[in-house]
Amino acid sequence: MEFYTLNNTIQLPCVGLGTWQITDRDRMAVLIRRAYEEGYRLIDTAAAYSNEIAIAKAIAAAGIGRKELLLSDKVWNTSRGYEAVQEACRKSLKKLKTDYLDIYLMHWPASKKLHPDWARINAETWRGMEKLCKDGYVRAIGVCNFKVHHLEELEKSAEIMPCINQFELHPGFHQDDLVLYCQEKGILVEASSPLGNGQILKHEGICGIAGRHDKSAAQICLRWSLQKGAAVIPKTADPDRLAQNIDVFDFSLSSEEMKELDDIPYCGGVGIDSDEVTEFG
Ligand SMILES: NC(=O)c1ccc[n+]([C@@H]2O[C@H](COP(=O)([O-])OP(=O)(O)OC[C@H]3O[C@@H](n4cnc5c(N)ncnc54)[C@H](OP(=O)(O)O)[C@@H]3O)[C@@H](O)[C@H]2O)c1
Repeated sequence: MEFYTLNNTIQLPCVGLGTWQITDRDRMAVLIRRAYEEGYRLIDTAAAYSNEIAIAKAIAAAGIGRKELLLSDKVWNTSRGYEAVQEACRKSLKKLKTDYLDIYLMHWPASKKLHPDWARINAETWRGMEKLCKDGYVRAIGVCNFKVHHLEELEKSAEIMPCINQFELHPGFHQDDLVLYCQEKGILVEASSPLGNGQILKHEGICGIAGRHDKSAAQICLRWSLQKGAAVIPKTADPDRLAQNIDVFDFSLSSEEMKELDDIPYCGGVGIDSDEVTEFG
C-alpha cells in the first residue's frame, strides 16, 4: 500500500474502503476481515451511514487491533455547531467502541440555499471539531463536499486547516479547479464515489483503456484519481472485488489517457450540489 502524508503528518493509505450503503452486520464482518487481509488500513464511515456499530463488531470479530486501522468518520448535517458536533462525535465514538477517531470530517457544508449564515455555521462547527482535536478525541479533522468559497470562508477563522477535502471525483467529473485549490492549500483530496457510484463502469472510453491495460474499468477509474494526487475510497459489498480495487499500483495511465478520461462528460455519480444540500442529504 502507498500512503499520502497529511498536513499534520498522519500517513493516509492511498486506498481505503468506502462503506456507504453497507449496513448488514454479517456482510460487514466478512468484508472487514477480508479487507484487512488484502491490505486495507483505512475504513471510511459516517454517522449517516448507520453502520458504525456493524464496523465496530466486525473489527472486534476479526481481532484487528485499534492501531492497525485508520477510522474515518463524519458528522451529519443535523449536528452543526460547536456543542452539537462534540456531542455527535462522542456518540460515534461509543458506537465504534473506540476512544479516538483518526479522521473526523464535516459531511456537508451548511448550504447557501437553507442557511443565509452558512459561513458562520460552518465556522462554529469547525471550532467544535478543533476542540475535539485538541482534547484528543480525533487525530485529524477535515471536510467533505466543500467548494472553493466554503474553504475560503473557513480559512478566515480556522486555527487548524482541514487535512482532507473528500468530494465526488471520477472520470466524467474532474473538478480540476477545486483539486488544484486544495493542493495549493495542502489539503489532501479524497475522492468519494471514485467509481461514479458504479454508474460509469460501462462507459466505452473507460472500458477501452481498461482493455489496453488488461485491467478492469474500476481499476482505471481508481488509477485516474490516484494520478491526480487524490486518495480513493471505493465501496464494494462484494468481498471478491476488494483485492481488485487495491491492486492499482502496478500500472500507470499515459497523459493522453488521463486527458481522454478528463474529457468524458458527466455520465453517473451521486451529483449532489453542496450549495443546495438539505439537512437530510
Ligand atoms: N462525503 C460524502 O458526501 C460521500 C458521498 C458519497 C460517497 N462517499 C464515500 O465514498 C465511498 C465510495 O462511493 P460510493 O459508495 O458512492 O460508490 P463507488 O465506490 O464510486 O462505487 C460503488 C459501486 O461500484 C461497484 N463496484 C465496486 N468495485 C467494483 C469493481 N471492482 N467492479 C465492478 N463494480 C464495482 C459497487 O458494487 P458492489 O458493492 O456490488 O461491489 C457499487 O455499486 C462511499 O462508500 C463513502 O464511504 C462519501
